[in-house]
Amino acid sequence: METVNQLLASIQDVGRDAVRGGYSRAVYSTPELDLRQWFIEQAKQRGLDVETDRNGIIWAWWGKPQNGALVTGSHLDSVPGGGAFDGPLGVASALAAVDILKSRGVQPPRSLAITVFPEEEGSRFGVACLGSRLLTGAIDVDKALNLRDADGNTFGDVARANDLDPRHIGPDSEALARIGDFVELHVEQGKGLGQGGPAIAVGSSILGHGRWKISVSGQGNHAGTTLMADRADPMVAAAQIVLAVRDTAAKQPDARATVGRLSPVPGGTNVIASRVDLWLDARHPDDAVTARLIEAIYGAAEEVAAAEGCTATLTEESYSDTVHFDPGLSRRIGGLLPGAPVLATGAGHDAGVLAGYVPSAMLFVRNPSGISHSPEEYVADKDASAGTVALADVLEGLL
Ligand code: GLV
Ligand code: MN
Ligand code: MN
Ligand code: MN
Repeated sequence: METVNQLLASIQDVGRDAVRGGYSRAVYSTPELDLRQWFIEQAKQRGLDVETDRNGIIWAWWGKPQNGALVTGSHLDSVPGGGAFDGPLGVASALAAVDILKSRGVQPPRSLAITVFPEEEGSRFGVACLGSRLLTGAIDVDKALNLRDADGNTFGDVARANDLDPRHIGPDSEALARIGDFVELHVEQGKGLGQGGPAIAVGSSILGHGRWKISVSGQGNHAGTTLMADRADPMVAAAQIVLAVRDTAAKQPDARATVGRLSPVPGGTNVIASRVDLWLDARHPDDAVTARLIEAIYGAAEEVAAAEGCTATLTEESYSDTVHFDPGLSRRIGGLLPGAPVLATGAGHDAGVLAGYVPSAMLFVRNPSGISHSPEEYVADKDASAGTVALADVLEGLL
């Protein structure tokens, strides 16, 4: 069977993005579907029984599906122009860890499953961890079914086109009861594990984080005939809102706030936009501080919009409270990985959503530069191998 590095090498050409660099593997796009198929084949080659549940989560079982199983896994979708490891590292490590356990002659006293969650990044439908939110009921089903991608397709329609029945999408207590403990291995996405020190860390917490849409409306008009004094240009307001986001967050220790996506409507070089939509991602360990941060940003947005003769509206698209991983489970994992540091993360994960419902924990694998959500995201082969052995040790100890 392939090592983790061979498994990752076998998918290195799937979903490459020639324009952005890196990978664009949006959920239910051809590359993500190809990866799901790849996973199913790899799982079957290992003798695992594969099923896809009513929310599109793939489960590969070593042993019979049963309540209270040990579950590990991650996701195969990516951000636009993302790296090779965010998601696939956890999936490939899980497959390779099963090989290691089998080579050690482990006979699992309880069943073990590998899961692949759809739309972890929220890159297509806007809400991150959509699969785990649906499984647990952490998102309203109607809201989920009506989420739209950039082409206007609803999640419900895309789910139907991918053999899911929208009438059965949503909280799945039977599937959730199967998770006794959940462990997600993931590439480290900050500078928490430097060169030279340990390559693997145990996760402690995830910053509270959310997404908001700010829409600025003005007067669409002609770029050549409209005097500067006569404009109500929402792009000019949007530019000031981006600065306000940076400046407001910079004043708040531990806060992060980002406008990573901005869309002028209609979007023509010689057209003053009639509307600009901005998407704001904001994070802080204290949920009350995040709420105040958003209030301050929205106050600033209303002010700069008014000064440009425009109006601004704010819509919350999703929010996840700060998560502390299960202390008992994390302590057991720490005992199985002596010397592994304990690390908080600013990135969201399905393990974070699941942590609200079942004991969950995470392992992080060194990413020397800390760069992630970028083509430069990197894990050395030896660290990926070490992560797989660590995951195998953890799974064996928890089984
Ligand atoms: C997902 O990776 C996120 O943290 O946004
Ligand atoms: Mn991820
Ligand atoms: Mn990610
Ligand atoms: Mn993530």
